[in-house]
Amino acid sequence: MSESLIYTKGAGKAAVYEELLPQIKGLLEGEADIIANLANVTAVLKEALGFFWVGFYLVRGKQLVLGPFQGSLACTRIDKGKGVCGKAWETASTIIVPDVDRFEGHIACSSLSRSEIVVPIFQRGIVAGVLDIDSDLTNTFDKTDARYLEDICKLLSVWFFS
Ligand code: SME
Repeated sequence: MSESLIYTKGAGKAAVYEELLPQIKGLLEGEADIIANLANVTAVLKEALGFFWVGFYLVRGKQLVLGPFQGSLACTRIDKGKGVCGKAWETASTIIVPDVDRFEGHIACSSLSRSEIVVPIFQRGIVAGVLDIDSDLTNTFDKTDARYLEDICKLLSVWFFS
């Protein structure tokens, strides 16, 4: 088992997120550019929690377009309502997928991805993008991830297009 997996499971995960939140807040306060901030948030999340893929998709008209990410090559455009990302956009809600094979319409950017969480980012009440995180293990994400990742996305809302 790789060391990073220790952090993605159990009680230690909340502690890692608790440490990350002020660090991310500090990062965002020191830089106004949204691309720079999104890029650094993906790096921080991937490094601290060892996720397989961490990235943003940004709303561009009727599609989500790939933004800053850490991990392997990914699909660049996703239609509203399609895949986990498009569904999170359409429903404006966080979606946890314990097993991607059981999510109808899941878009497989990598065959190694086994579970996923997608969290919307709001701009004045409207979804402006999503944070997408993939794991190469099933059942990686739970309410703890949802809660903290939503907090991170709320922080980003303040900087999004501002
Ligand atoms: N699995 C996503 C597509 C994006 S990749 O995971 C990076 C989906 O179903 O929307």
